[in-house]
Amino acid sequence: METKWIKPTEVEEGVRLLQAGEVIAMPTETVYGLAGDATNDVAIKKIFEAKGRPSDNPLIVHVASVEQAEHFAQTIPPVARRLMEAFWPGALTIILPSNGRASSFVTAGLDSIGLRMPNHPAALELIRTSGLGLAAPSANRSGRPSPTSARHVADDLTGRIAGIMDGGPTGIGVESTVIDCTAEPATILRPGGVTKEAIEAVIGPVILDANLSDEAAAPRSPGMKYTHYAPSAPLYLVEGGRDDLVRVITTRQATGKRVGALVFDEATTPADVTLSLGISMETAAQRLYEALRKFDETDVEEIYVNRIEPTGVALAVYNRLYKAAGGKVIRPQEEA
Ligand code: TXA
Ligand code: MG
Repeated sequence: METKWIKPTEVEEGVRLLQAGEVIAMPTETVYGLAGDATNDVAIKKIFEAKGRPSDNPLIVHVASVEQAEHFAQTIPPVARRLMEAFWPGALTIILPSNGRASSFVTAGLDSIGLRMPNHPAALELIRTSGLGLAAPSANRSGRPSPTSARHVADDLTGRIAGIMDGGPTGIGVESTVIDCTAEPATILRPGGVTKEAIEAVIGPVILDANLSDEAAAPRSPGMKYTHYAPSAPLYLVEGGRDDLVRVITTRQATGKRVGALVFDEATTPADVTLSLGISMETAAQRLYEALRKFDETDVEEIYVNRIEPTGVALAVYNRLYKAAGGKVIRPQEEA
């Protein structure tokens, strides 16, 4: 299949493809999404096929208004309404009871549905002009880092999808926060662009899903079931400070390995390739997936990064690094 490049000004072309049941990559403020008509089984199957995504993992439906969310949700509890008022359009996906209007492939057979209003003019215009709710997972091949530029999408999906709308690099760089509002108190299932602290300022205390709090508190379960967001070379989190990171790097290099390092400042390391995530957590979020993809263009065999404190924006960055590492954490003090 030929994959068309679509300019953000060519919304009509995107709408034509979406209404014909095709799937196209669209920019959002978090990461690029692979969009298709949420009510069209054929389109949704194309999304799963193009990504190679397991069919038991549900998709988020993107809407352009609260009224459109009402079209897909059975009810919107008051807590969810307050979240919509505070954070939409924005990087918050709200899980609500589904009314069955979306394709059952979107919800993976669950009786709940994830809804989000993206804060991106091109995405909002595609939704409004087409009149469709757009199911859109991140536009990467399953298991790869999410795409933060149209180039990343093209690297993964050229020939597999009808079009790519190029809206330049995404602003936030990590995916939306996913919060389950089907039970009380609301539970964060995936940390992302909207922080737990910001959410709690609006609706009071929320719960972190058990998996998330385990990995943040006691990161010691090497080899999780699936590795996500992963570069080809194995990634390891290193407990401790810069000295510990440097010691691990030089020890591995002494055994002949080509080593990569990710750092949260502009400093260099003895690693063969050092990539900087900038000096703030916001920049780290923006650059993270690009950096993970960049390592694939080098010959490094192992990648090391310091473990960071999982609070605020850093919770999302930590979670993606932890998953990319498949939970592998090195504790130099214990090994010494
Ligand atoms: O920022 C984002 O959220 C991006 C952009 C494109 O909007 N999309 C995205 O989609 O990250 P995806 O499919 O890569 O991640 C969706 C997440 C998955 O972890 C999925 O399991 C969860 O949301 N999810 C979706 N519907 C759900 C539901 N009904 N119940 C529980 N989790 C759900
Ligand atoms: Mg994804």
